[in-house]
Amino acid sequence: MSIDDKIGQTNLRGTSSRAKTLSEELKEDVRQGKVGALLNVMKVEFVDELQKIAVEESPNKIPLIFGRDVVHGFKTIFPIPIGLAASWDTEIAKSSSRVAAIEASSVGIRWTFAPMLDIARDSRWGRIAESPGEDPYLASVLGKAYVEGFQGDSLNNPTSIAACAKHYIGYGAAMGGRDYNTTVIPEALLRNVYLPPFQSALNAGAATVMTSFNEINGIPATGNEFLLKQVLRDELKFDGFVVSDWDSVVEMIAHGYARDEKHAAELAAKAGMDMEMTSNAYELHLKKLIEQGKVTEGQLNVFVKNILRIKYRLGLFNTPYRDKNNEAAFYAKAHLEEAKEAAIKSSVLLKNEQVLPMSSQTKVALIGPLANAPLDQMGTWTFDGEKAHTITPLKAFETANVNFTHIKALTHSRDRSKAQFKSAVNAVKNSDVIVFVAGEEAILSGEAHSRANIDLPGVQEDLIKALSETGKPIVLVIMAGRPITITNIIDDVDAVLMAWHPGTMGGVALQEILFGLREPEGRLPVSWPKTAGQLPYFYNHKNTGRPANKKDYVAMYDIPVGAWQSSLGNDSHYLDVGYTPHFPFGFGLGYTAFKYTDLEISKDTIGFNETLQVKVSITNVGERPGKEVVQFYVQDVVGSITRPVRELKGFQHISLNKGETKEVVFKLSTGALGFSNHKIMHTVEEGDFNLWVGAQATSGLKGAFYLKEY
Ligand code: IFM
Repeated sequence: MSIDDKIGQTNLRGTSSRAKTLSEELKEDVRQGKVGALLNVMKVEFVDELQKIAVEESPNKIPLIFGRDVVHGFKTIFPIPIGLAASWDTEIAKSSSRVAAIEASSVGIRWTFAPMLDIARDSRWGRIAESPGEDPYLASVLGKAYVEGFQGDSLNNPTSIAACAKHYIGYGAAMGGRDYNTTVIPEALLRNVYLPPFQSALNAGAATVMTSFNEINGIPATGNEFLLKQVLRDELKFDGFVVSDWDSVVEMIAHGYARDEKHAAELAAKAGMDMEMTSNAYELHLKKLIEQGKVTEGQLNVFVKNILRIKYRLGLFNTPYRDKNNEAAFYAKAHLEEAKEAAIKSSVLLKNEQVLPMSSQTKVALIGPLANAPLDQMGTWTFDGEKAHTITPLKAFETANVNFTHIKALTHSRDRSKAQFKSAVNAVKNSDVIVFVAGEEAILSGEAHSRANIDLPGVQEDLIKALSETGKPIVLVIMAGRPITITNIIDDVDAVLMAWHPGTMGGVALQEILFGLREPEGRLPVSWPKTAGQLPYFYNHKNTGRPANKKDYVAMYDIPVGAWQSSLGNDSHYLDVGYTPHFPFGFGLGYTAFKYTDLEISKDTIGFNETLQVKVSITNVGERPGKEVVQFYVQDVVGSITRPVRELKGFQHISLNKGETKEVVFKLSTGALGFSNHKIMHTVEEGDFNLWVGAQATSGLKGAFYLKEY
């Protein structure tokens, strides 16, 4: 291959998703071997034609790889990733990405820019919608599942698509939750919190990695040799290829790290960034940089080998074309069924004052801007899902013959008109229960869609307050890309069900949950704040020298949210909202209740190579069968660097009939207690540990053990 041919392989060319015809210029560039991969070629005929040119007419006959953001489904849309994370269910994460891969590969897409593995601890950040939430353990097990689903048993299978672990790294730590903002992450924190999900995805075989837009400790991720060479290649042994994010190579100029485009190309190349997305600094400058000895041809050879290795593993050299027998896959019955399951498993019940489930006789007033919003219900990063196939709550209620009236009052979430309030209030008077589907339109979360205030937008709160004056019970269903602060209206509603943006089958899932055919199964993958002023917030924080003490916690639970609390001591809290979140990480109600008893720990003291066994009994003490996500947390009490107050180390799903008891066993190996210390050495330290088994991050049965270095 000539140097030009090699540089061609590093070029990921973006195309306009709206293009009606294939540009002659693009065809010619493919013919000349100037393009290695393409992004967002939306028409299947274009995919076929461009691949034919590449494999028959380009200098080395190397196939193209077609990439797209197939993030939470292709045609059949699943809940947004933060919703899927609320399922705490690796099986559904895997099957959702398998379905996405089957559908996307049928149109020739063999590479997705997912899973997104950014730990997100600030609900203002728009991209929390795409994230696995705030916890490294949950994100790691989900990351592995997504990769296994996208890539199938072997990348070589024509229905497999290469996964892309993104965004490497620290993007979710954007200051203030403002997208693309600067991040400052001490290396121990990077390794203990932000890196584990990537490590897990790479262990599962993720074929590609995308660098993030942010700078991290002063160096943009796209030009960060330490992160790309030392950590990713030398330590994590990654052998796939690294792609930059959209224009992030040339954005190093705006960051103030590169002088110009040529310098940006040099910095990215020296850092070990293999393929450039959309900007063309490599295409324009790499040859010259090699001639000038600023970048070696050996480095370019490494890029090309990494890229061709993945094309080879995908089987593109043998079968460059899509499997044309696979076209019937879109919206297959089994795919829709999976999407419905995923929406049920993702829905988190936050409050229920005996209003849910409703009986089939209940007369419902269905209202709210998201009750019939098929596009918004699909959420961010939906390129291919179609409105016509999306079942909204309104459509589901109609199909299921629910006794209901649909009341129109607000046309979209930001609508500020109160013109229909009066008629809406009158109309609900004939109903037994009001189901208000509130939230955010899809465009209020996702990339570059951060919000400083995360209350319900527009005048939704005013309408809820007006409706509550009627005395009718209100079930608030929220469809949104992030936790929404609801302290202003929590006392005006009788139930709150968080549906996230639930996807194609969201309406059916909600109808089944509201009427008790199924129960909501989700648990929060992020702490839910009382106010944006608490952010960033996460359960696995450090204690501080003045932790809010138990007495204060109790006091805080008893005070109305937002009330002034001047009587608290000099400890770490806010005067106006205390310290606790509105709903903690791991929280979620079902339609029954569980009691945890008989915590047993196999030993008081364990050695470094031993495994601790932790047993607990759980009884369904409610009135109907139900499901529980049993959570296991550990605290390393004293460390050579301070350790979080709790860390999730495992969870299990159980189903119990009314009155039934089951024993749940967790096994803790001492390896799971390791962390990176101040010397950036991985260490497991002798000492006291606390543990909890419970239904959320702020309670549970407590035990303790000692880890001894024999
Ligand atoms: O995959 C995305 C990334 O997450 C954000 N920038 C654009 C990429 C390609 O669409």
